[in-house]
Amino acid sequence: MAVRGTRDEREREAAIAAAVTALSAGRLVGLPTETVYGLGADADDGRAVAAIYAAKGRPSFNPLIAHVPDLATAERHGVFDDRARALARAFWPGPLTLVVAKRPDSPISDLASAGLDTIGLRVPANAVTREILARFGRPVAAPSANRSGRVSPTRAADVVEELGAAVAEVIDDGPTPVGVESTIVAVLDGRARLLRPGGVPREAIEAILGETLVDEPPPVDDAAPLAPGMLASHYAPRARVRLEATTVAPGEAVISFGPDRPAGAEHAAVVFDLSPTGDLAEAAANLFRALRDLDASGATTIAVAPIPAEGLGEAIVDRLRRAAAPRP
Ligand code: TXA
Ligand code: MG
Repeated sequence: MAVRGTRDEREREAAIAAAVTALSAGRLVGLPTETVYGLGADADDGRAVAAIYAAKGRPSFNPLIAHVPDLATAERHGVFDDRARALARAFWPGPLTLVVAKRPDSPISDLASAGLDTIGLRVPANAVTREILARFGRPVAAPSANRSGRVSPTRAADVVEELGAAVAEVIDDGPTPVGVESTIVAVLDGRARLLRPGGVPREAIEAILGETLVDEPPPVDDAAPLAPGMLASHYAPRARVRLEATTVAPGEAVISFGPDRPAGAEHAAVVFDLSPTGDLAEAAANLFRALRDLDASGATTIAVAPIPAEGLGEAIVDRLRRAAAPRP
């Protein structure tokens, strides 16, 4: 496994070339995106996609997002109506995944789309990864580069920690600026549906559509989730996570939000301020690093201050609820 930096033009060029070579050989690559790091493979190559599921320990019924360099390429794999096109034009490149009908002639492997007749497509905003996608010339299937059920990686070092043995290359383009995964919207027949809150706030999507999003009902049971992000327990650190904490017990680790820390925070083992000014974008960017760092501190409980569930806060609260859910 090689970690490739992107600090200067020569390094960047070498990193892009190495990623394209590895993808072409059916190997796995840790790729930076604006949301979280992805575990990428040639989406057309069923064996390469199978290696993603194996590395993550992911149940194979969970479909993967196919990453492409632009809308024109996305339209070769999925059916875009006016609404889907409007959303793509408004938010791509960026943290939005569109689930649309999969074109029968799309070469994307059935394993990547988990046998569904729909496909999740996304144009990520990271410039290095877009260049890799453009040069590779085929869609890249990429879930978040963490083992299934664990905290998503926002730094190249997290990818190495999670999956170092399984990847051929990790492209280190620094910490991911958005910090939570893409918003997933299904645009099929009928009303558009929000499958996962994420980096594009619901309100921004509704403003483009001119209608409210339907919330996908939660799955009946964990054995048949609509999306793995919808498994009750997900994004789980080793420590127990306690939400809506307004007071802190001595020795707990604390995630704080806004200028005022929860009462008793001075007796905490360690405190991570997500955003001292109460800025939700800053908090989202820091969220997964906070969970990872506090977990590494050895604390057995992470107490999390209340965070408003509006705008980007909806994705933050969603991830925290899953991190706090009872473990299987
Ligand atoms: O920001 C992101 O979306 C990151 C970066 C790497 O792009 N990727 C990511 O992938 O979060 P993953 O696999 O961890 O989550 C993708 C979600 C899953 O919950 C999956 O079930 C859902 O997208 N998904 C993909 N295709 C789908 C489809 N056809 N129908 C419904 N859900 C789909
Ligand atoms: Mg994930």
